[in-house]
Amino acid sequence: MEKIKLMSLYTDFRKDMSYIEKELERSVQSSSPIVRQASLHLLKAGGKRIRPIFVIMAAQFGTYSLENAAKIAVSLELIHMASLVHDDVIDDSDMRRGLETVKAKWNNRVAMYAGDFIFSRALTSIGNIEKAPVHQILAETMLEICKGEIIQIDFQQQTDQDLRDYLKRIKRKTALLLSSSCELGALSADADSQTVRKLKRYGYFTGMAFQIVDDILDITSTDAELGKPAGSDLLNGHITLPVLYIKDDEQFKPYMKRAFTGVMEESDRQAMLRYIRQSGAIEKAQHVSDLYLIKALKELESLPNGKSKKALTQIADFIGQRKY
Ligand code: IPE
Ligand code: IPE
Ligand code: MG
Ligand code: MG
Repeated sequence: MEKIKLMSLYTDFRKDMSYIEKELERSVQSSSPIVRQASLHLLKAGGKRIRPIFVIMAAQFGTYSLENAAKIAVSLELIHMASLVHDDVIDDSDMRRGLETVKAKWNNRVAMYAGDFIFSRALTSIGNIEKAPVHQILAETMLEICKGEIIQIDFQQQTDQDLRDYLKRIKRKTALLLSSSCELGALSADADSQTVRKLKRYGYFTGMAFQIVDDILDITSTDAELGKPAGSDLLNGHITLPVLYIKDDEQFKPYMKRAFTGVMEESDRQAMLRYIRQSGAIEKAQHVSDLYLIKALKELESLPNGKSKKALTQIADFIGQRKY
């Protein structure tokens, strides 16, 4: 049901999205069968395609060219996909988009190569866009994602961290890519600088909310909904926003300690999840996400009305309520 709702936002852009889908498929062709199969496996598993849709919509605020916007959209979705392939190695995750991860279906070595291959193809796709700032922004975004993932490793199992540490981390690992999707989409269509700035900020604020909601869902969803065990973040030693609020709770500490060992009795894991869910921490985290979404919507206010603005508004609403 949720899935249908998100897709319905795309109806006005269906043709553009299916063009991008074909380009994505074309871009992961390779003479190496394993690398091609691994990339196609993840591509065909679906995903929400939020980054391409941000590019397309932001580009509507300038002089729209599907061909140009698609090159950028493909590039950003590929960077996202490559980072997921690597992230699943780091997080030792076996399931992604409801299917086996590349590292589980093949192995870590294939996942590293496949990730690098997809990253390279991201650069190919954007290569002949003749606008210097585009390449600079893309390179910086990739650097920041990388930093974000490394910082996340540094902070693993570290209980003396605060809201600032968390926000800085999710800015890097998630929000900047969504922000750049909007910025590059608008830039590629030569939108005026005020419009580019607003869209970039919209992308950043929705991106912060997006990761906070992702971190909430890791605790509130079922294993089936997530396509991986609920509580995976804690089992991987990642302290996310809801957990920040209860990490010093004496009754919760023993759960956290056991989760950090990476293996937990099934009943213990369920009890831990119930404990967090009833603690009030989820609502507090949701509130932070809502504040970001309000800021995102505020950026849109002064932009011209139209299909694109309407869809961006709906996406912000979707992020607040999403279940996947
Ligand atoms: C997953 O991103 C990783 C995060 C940044 C939270 P998405 O939730 O956009 O993943 P797909 O592309 O829909 O699978
Ligand atoms: C997002 O973080 C991963 C990247 C930005 C590379 P998560 O680790 O929370 O993403 P999921 O939950 O595995 O999709
Ligand atoms: Mg992960
Ligand atoms: Mg997650």
